[in-house]
Amino acid sequence: MDINQRDSFGSKFGVIAAAAGSAIGLGNIWRFPYILGENGGGAFLLVYLLFVVGIGIPVMLSEFTIGRSAQRNAVGSFIKLAPGKPWYLVGVMGVGAAFMILAFYTVVAGWTLEYVYQSVINGFHGKTQLEIGQMFDHFRETSRPVIWFAIFMLMTLGIVIAGVKNGIEKYTKILMPILLLILIIISIRSITLPGSSQGLKFLFYPDFSKITPKVILEALGQAFFSLSIGMGTLITYGSYIQKKEDLMNTAVSVTMADTLIAVLAGVAIFPAVFAFGIPPAAEEGLVYKTLPVIFQQMPGGYLFSLLFFVLLAVAAVTSTISVLEVIVAYFSEELNMSRKAATWLGTISVGVLGIFASYSGKVFDVLNFTSANILLPVGGLFIVLFIGWYFGRKRTFAEISNEGVLKARLFNVYLFLVRFIAPIAIALVFLNGIGLIKF
Ligand code: TRP
Repeated sequence: MDINQRDSFGSKFGVIAAAAGSAIGLGNIWRFPYILGENGGGAFLLVYLLFVVGIGIPVMLSEFTIGRSAQRNAVGSFIKLAPGKPWYLVGVMGVGAAFMILAFYTVVAGWTLEYVYQSVINGFHGKTQLEIGQMFDHFRETSRPVIWFAIFMLMTLGIVIAGVKNGIEKYTKILMPILLLILIIISIRSITLPGSSQGLKFLFYPDFSKITPKVILEALGQAFFSLSIGMGTLITYGSYIQKKEDLMNTAVSVTMADTLIAVLAGVAIFPAVFAFGIPPAAEEGLVYKTLPVIFQQMPGGYLFSLLFFVLLAVAAVTSTISVLEVIVAYFSEELNMSRKAATWLGTISVGVLGIFASYSGKVFDVLNFTSANILLPVGGLFIVLFIGWYFGRKRTFAEISNEGVLKARLFNVYLFLVRFIAPIAIALVFLNGIGLIKF
């Protein structure tokens, strides 16, 4: 395909909205709070923030650099920049990870639609905390989750098939600002509840005795997952960024937006959870089992419930389209399929895996844990090694500075992080977290 014919994001705001739309999603609002709840609260948050800045930003910038430099999908980019070398396997692993992530992620996105529906019909009304918990468990035993999953896959397909500028960019530009606004309203509601301060303490007060190798690995995995890095999503999006945009600025803005939303989700959820005496370690049901209880105990709960689950669905769809796009860009550019055929093939094959993830909690857990804590960090490790030690200083600087137009003042800091700090930190956390080394 000719480079000039490739689709691209039309504006600077469009780029940031699309990349932030990918990053901000169920990872921030569903996954971050329950992983933080399971891994000790404030101490986890601190480790998480360190990883976001020291590893997340460098990996994100590296992905943008690879994608925009090559103007190809996640696999094709490595083939183009390192012809005849095995680096393309990083892209292949990324496409594989995309299937796994999309399969379980869209299942959770489907739950969100059920909860939008329940909010509309006021289905939580008059139920106790126990009954609402059972509602979630019972719902997962029926065939409804699979139906919602299929609907969500089709929504994703519909947007992706329309292409980058008219599909992805158009929707995220409208949806992202609405999302931020709704979350702020819910956060204000949450911190003004009586007894909310315990939740803020849980979220922000670091208890260092809670830190273990597994907690540190979970924080790393969560950072990768939340920022959409380590599997080529942002290589693919990077390939649609025009040559005049500032990549470093984009990476920092997207990371800040993503982190803000995750912390806001924590502020929305934990004070309310503590105010009503609900245990924070409620696993993947945290959002679905506790928030409806909270909503119906607060004034305006019907409206907040509806807004919240619509918000979750919106955040999820701007992320699922970015994961599907990895698969579609690969199929269409490397296997010479039409965009339409590629989108359908991707959707159907993810659909099959997703049915298993929907019916089996085991399959779901394996996909969730393996993708975030194993595939993404390993992918991220090779991405920074590629930029730091193969692509080299000259070509990297040319891409990041837009051929010398931008000053890129922090370039040397970035290169140092990419060459030394990020690879060593990822390797140590990973090996220690899975128990291969001990220190
Ligand atoms: N980051 C998104 C979220 O937090 C999910 C996501 C989109 C993702 N693209 C990804 C996760 C690529 C890992 C890799 O909801």
